[in-house]
Amino acid sequence: MKLRKCIAILLCITVIIGFCACSKGQTGKNEQQLKWWQNTIVYEAYPSSFKDTDGNGYGDIPGITSELDYLASLGVGAIWITPIFASPMKDNGYDVADYYSINPLYGTMEDVETLIEEADKRNIKIVMDLVFNHTSDESEWFKESSSDRNNDKNDWYIWADAREDGSAPNNWRGIFGGSAWTWCEARQQYYLHTFADFQPDLNWENPDVRNSLFDIANFWIDKGVGGFRVDAVTYIKKPDLMLDGVADGTDGLSGIHNMTANTEGILDFLHEFKEKVQDGTDIFVVGEANGVPNEQLEDWCGENGVFDMIFSFDLVNIQFVNGEYWYKTRDFKLSEFKKIIHVFQQGTDDVWVPLFFENHDQPRSINHFLPDCTDKINGAKALATLLMTLRGTPFIYQGEEIGMTNVNRDTIEEYNDISSHNQYKMALENGLDREEALQCVRDYSRDNARSPMQWDMTANSGFTRGRAWLAVADNYLAVNVGSEDNDPNSVLNWYRQLSELRKEHPALIDGSFNELREDSEELFMYIRENKKEKILVVINFTGKQVDFIPDNPGSTELLISSYGDDSGDILRPYEARCYRQQY
Ligand code: GLC
Repeated sequence: MKLRKCIAILLCITVIIGFCACSKGQTGKNEQQLKWWQNTIVYEAYPSSFKDTDGNGYGDIPGITSELDYLASLGVGAIWITPIFASPMKDNGYDVADYYSINPLYGTMEDVETLIEEADKRNIKIVMDLVFNHTSDESEWFKESSSDRNNDKNDWYIWADAREDGSAPNNWRGIFGGSAWTWCEARQQYYLHTFADFQPDLNWENPDVRNSLFDIANFWIDKGVGGFRVDAVTYIKKPDLMLDGVADGTDGLSGIHNMTANTEGILDFLHEFKEKVQDGTDIFVVGEANGVPNEQLEDWCGENGVFDMIFSFDLVNIQFVNGEYWYKTRDFKLSEFKKIIHVFQQGTDDVWVPLFFENHDQPRSINHFLPDCTDKINGAKALATLLMTLRGTPFIYQGEEIGMTNVNRDTIEEYNDISSHNQYKMALENGLDREEALQCVRDYSRDNARSPMQWDMTANSGFTRGRAWLAVADNYLAVNVGSEDNDPNSVLNWYRQLSELRKEHPALIDGSFNELREDSEELFMYIRENKKEKILVVINFTGKQVDFIPDNPGSTELLISSYGDDSGDILRPYEARCYRQQY
């Protein structure tokens, strides 16, 4: 009896100790298990437009190195640099000729090594952009493959015979317009290109191709990079039968995205990438994965997934009615915008997500998401608040942190971006007049994000002492780093405050997301909560004042307001506030 009692007591003690250990483990679980890239902020630099140090009109690697302290002041822990490899630059570096050498416009391999070293001193990792769906047609691989049908790289690309009448193998339209197939005289065959004709798609079915790509990634890991963004990754696998699609435009073609994005079997390729590149390292990999539905997020980024994060495009495509064609758009309500974010946030229990409103392919967020907002500073602060307080890793795109806006050019000729010209043409073909077509380009051109970084009030906004490769936006005297640095109420200093807030309140990083007043067309409001604290975020998404009293006002402490002071029960236009709530 005594023994049994002893055993029972012992068991009880064990259970209690076990329970305590377990719940202690759980309290610390989120924090302890967070990987470095979940705990940080990523900054995307578009090297051509970031900072030019040699006066050739293109930004360069030393330019990025020279601004590391600036980036550190934003709390950035990783810099994703869009491709800096040797390239004919017909798609600004997304047409790679040689993944092992650096584009001389940007500098040298030594410059990259210095950047990695200097960044490391500031605890910042460099993230490379791997363009692995295609190469440039000037790559040695393609030159060999296209020279005839009997060479070592014969099937490194996707070659197919013409149809009987000599036309392309099917009716797919490339993402940059026109047929996705281009004729090669030497081979008497067509090759496939998801994007432009100078970007032939690699044949991932060939293990030599895959291994060569994995070698490239490993070369860069050995150089010390901290992560990768994998470009256009959803297109690497093609369906076995490359059949015609339903025509979706006046040209009788069918957008390739609907035919090849996220094809069955793609994850096998990517598991191999994970195993041969990432396993055993602490690098992070984020995929540009347009076409992966939310329901599949776990397969891609869950515990047994292939990547750490993938970019989802639902939000940035909110206005488009017909795929991603700019000629047909619609207005959207705040509740629709919130719903997309809500769904995405709710799905993050088992996966981690990148948060982004801008990148080098998107318009500026202030124009994109708040087209009617006239108070650009407070509008930009409202979006910043959202970006920095949702669950996930924020990706800030260069210039977003100072509230840069779209550039408005007068003629289509002034646009550099290849897709702007294609979208303009498609808009005309689909019935828009010239001015309407140009307006689409003004609204969505990738040049909006690519105009040079606005550093100060000097000529060319301090970006270059030469002639900028792309014109600086007109508003640089008002919107620039130098002026904002000294202004406590600037967009830049608001980003810095938010970055500090994330550090001081880990609930903003690991906490759950619970939305309040989901149907409101005025407020975006949610609670980020972990075991230790509860942070309430409320953002007025209108240009008017809105009455607002938090629940339990007595136990709610205002942490920050984007206006810098407390106006009590009234939220001012586009005002954002964060509160701490007591349990
Ligand atoms: C990705 C890049 C884009 C590029 C395209 C082709 O979408 O972000 O800039 O043009 O791939 O590589």
